[in-house]
Amino acid sequence: MGASGSGKTSMRSLIFSNNPASLTARLGATIDVEQNHVRFLGDLILNLWDCGGQDAFMDSYLNSQRSTIFSHVAVLIYVFDIESRDTQKDLEYYKDCLEALKKYSAGARVFLLVHKMDLVRGREREGVLGKRRGELEVESGGMQVGVFGTSIYDESLYKAWSRIVHTLIPNASVLSKHLTKLAKCCSATEVILFERTTFLVIATSSPPTPPPPPTTTTTASSTITSPTTSLPTSPSKPNQPLSSTNIAETTSTDLVDDPHQLSPTRYERTSELIKSFKHSCSRFVREEFHSLELELGEFSAVLDELTKNTYVLIVAHQGFVETAALKLNIRLARKKFE
Ligand code: GTP
Repeated sequence: MGASGSGKTSMRSLIFSNNPASLTARLGATIDVEQNHVRFLGDLILNLWDCGGQDAFMDSYLNSQRSTIFSHVAVLIYVFDIESRDTQKDLEYYKDCLEALKKYSAGARVFLLVHKMDLVRGREREGVLGKRRGELEVESGGMQVGVFGTSIYDESLYKAWSRIVHTLIPNASVLSKHLTKLAKCCSATEVILFERTTFLVIATSSPPTPPPPPTTTTTASSTITSPTTSLPTSPSKPNQPLSSTNIAETTSTDLVDDPHQLSPTRYERTSELIKSFKHSCSRFVREEFHSLELELGEFSAVLDELTKNTYVLIVAHQGFVETAALKLNIRLARKKFE
């Protein structure tokens, strides 16, 4: 929910319909409520309501449609335009929505997106967002809210939406445990699970721990081969730093020399880059994107389908791990995740 023109349909169009940001300028106002159903992991379906923000619709949601709109809500995402000309009215509608939510869906989580942050000058962004966050927290009257600064023109949108969707995954911690095991079996630095259509991050392996001494071999589960034992690795380069190239492409400032201090924005950057890459594949090459393999010196990565609804990214840089070994392990792990 959020005022008309705040950018709700634009974000939906980017994340759920894979459209580029440049096409959002053509979007018309949403009439009443538009619904999307996205199948996540097996039987889990994300039911997304985009509520048109014109005053007449807002008044109708808050009056005649109040119980329909606010019942059975798991998450309310309220979008505030950072350049809104009527912040007072925005806040009044927001507070009214919170009241209705408390009554009809008491356990729902609330996320507030301070949107169009690209319109704020780079060095002022943090201060502007901090101030807005403080105001919104006060206006939320003690209710716990997650506040994110977002823009359709950078990865901030994926960060916010990945966090939101993550809260809806019932078995996220179990998934994380399995991904951590897969990472160990592959001698990988990290394993990340993405939803197939949106490329939002569903779960990740636990943060990388310092690598074991070179003589230690990780024991794999019975069905997963450990590339450190099954395929040749580069003997001379254990524990090398990540190359200055992140998955897909990035600037050298995004990564630091210590391999275990990975860029904090790597997940959302990957989501954003892969989405644009997928879009380019279908637009320019007229081919569907299936998988990606990278071998760069001591760093290797594979992005491949894991299940019907997910992609997995395995990044390895402890010595050199062949992408073929990573692919084999993905294949072997598949039935455990299905
Ligand atoms: P209603 O359907 O009337 O409720 O509006 P809405 O909230 O769905 O707004 P919509 O997504 O249609 O976006 C309105 C305008 O904002 C479009 O021209 C978008 O291109 C623009 N817009 C959306 N997101 C951003 C953003 O992050 N930055 C900037 N600069 N413009 C954006």
